[in-house]
Amino acid sequence: MKRTEIKEALRSINYGSEINVKGWVRSRRGNKNVSFIALNDGSTIKNIQIVVDLEKITEEQLKLVTTGACISATGILVESMGKGQAVEIQATDIEVYGTADPLTYPLQKKGHTMEYLREVAHLRPRTNTFGAILRIRHNMAIAIHTYFHEHGYFYFHTPLITASDCEGAGQMFQVTTKNLYNLKKDENGQIDYSDDFFGKMAALTVSGQLEGELGAMALGKIYTFGPTFRAENSNTPRHLAEFWMIEPEVAFIQKEELMDLEEDFLKYCVRWALEKCADDLQFLNDMFDKTLIARLQSVIDTEFVRLPYTEGINILQEAIKNGRKFEFPCNWGDDLASEHERYLVEEHFDKPVIMTDYPKEIKAFYMKLNEDNKTVQGTDVLFPAIGEIIGGSVREEDYDKLMAEIERRQIPMKDMWWYLDTRRYGSAPHAGFGLGFERLMLFVTGMQNIRDVIPFPRTPKSAEF
Ligand code: 4AD
Ligand code: MG
Repeated sequence: MKRTEIKEALRSINYGSEINVKGWVRSRRGNKNVSFIALNDGSTIKNIQIVVDLEKITEEQLKLVTTGACISATGILVESMGKGQAVEIQATDIEVYGTADPLTYPLQKKGHTMEYLREVAHLRPRTNTFGAILRIRHNMAIAIHTYFHEHGYFYFHTPLITASDCEGAGQMFQVTTKNLYNLKKDENGQIDYSDDFFGKMAALTVSGQLEGELGAMALGKIYTFGPTFRAENSNTPRHLAEFWMIEPEVAFIQKEELMDLEEDFLKYCVRWALEKCADDLQFLNDMFDKTLIARLQSVIDTEFVRLPYTEGINILQEAIKNGRKFEFPCNWGDDLASEHERYLVEEHFDKPVIMTDYPKEIKAFYMKLNEDNKTVQGTDVLFPAIGEIIGGSVREEDYDKLMAEIERRQIPMKDMWWYLDTRRYGSAPHAGFGLGFERLMLFVTGMQNIRDVIPFPRTPKSAEF
């Protein structure tokens, strides 16, 4: 008999008809006359109830139907008398596909900590919480593609293996086929890559931006959506070594339009979550964070604050004068720590903040220099509970200014000639940003740790599964 997904079955009003569902047993309870199986197949957060009359199907036949087992259940769809569900299935036949030994199955009914669940990341998608998170993750990816597609952007595929360090932060994972136990060195003791696979040093990309700019200089508006890799040894709840990034790049726009885009795009994604993931968000709201849905709604309803870095520093110093304590200093020129960002967003403004015009020393080489010669046109978005969710900027389109900055920073340019060519041939004002997909997921799900919004997190000392 053809399987009906549980999501469909729960919506059906074909009472009295025969139906087949398949899924994993969440729980089984009952008495000597009747047994109730809660079954979930991942199509929805909700379980369907299978009612088993023990005169028709014996306790002996049911003994393998334990938490975690996979079964196929056929029966009659009926209106449910119990509360909490509209329909249930009166079983006529139950087939066990795969058993789950109750003594060893790692996911017993409920109440596991998030830390424990990370150790069983191969099974945690079967929990209510991770089912909800993973369905939301899918929906957010669809939201992002839909937004850009509907706004005339082209999905542009940038390479994962690259020879250039976009952010210049030296956090790249090298890619090599060389025998690491027998490395050929040149006369200066430097590793000789000429016989390596690519004939030069290569690494996993930290960002698709540089190639994305090439796309924008031809197609006008592009976006990337792919994995990025950073060997930053920071074991925090907001950093992954492998994360997904969305990077739109747009020709002919300036700072104000870039900020409009950042704000409109984020609001679109959050609105999408509220509309398409209502059941899953309600579950997370009830289980973890009673203010989650209200927080999502408030981001849609409020206008983001647009705050030059210098004004931000003034606000923070004023707060310090008034007795507010921070762990890290924040003088003009310092990179803001997450505590500073959160003070501005959560305490001072109580709204998302787009911070602009940062000191050039704390930002990447490609950002457009302001007339003061000290600040650059960065436009990072800071979110409540998250801190930096987007890093963006207007790009320096002037060849001479860009070259001067590259030389000042002593960035090796021999592998970047192609990037400079965009400024030599038909250069144009342009701007773009990068959204960390898992940072967006943190915000939308209300989860506390970035390891819990990606199926298989990669972090320092951890590459299991
Ligand atoms: O601010 P970042 O480093 O900016 C760039 O990479 C630019 N090339 C983007 C662009 O303008 N096209 O990174 C962008 C975003 C951050 O705001 C953050 O959300 C996320 O990527 N991010 C991380 N997310 C998880 N783990 C990490 N280690 C991350 N590093 C950055
Ligand atoms: Mg950044």
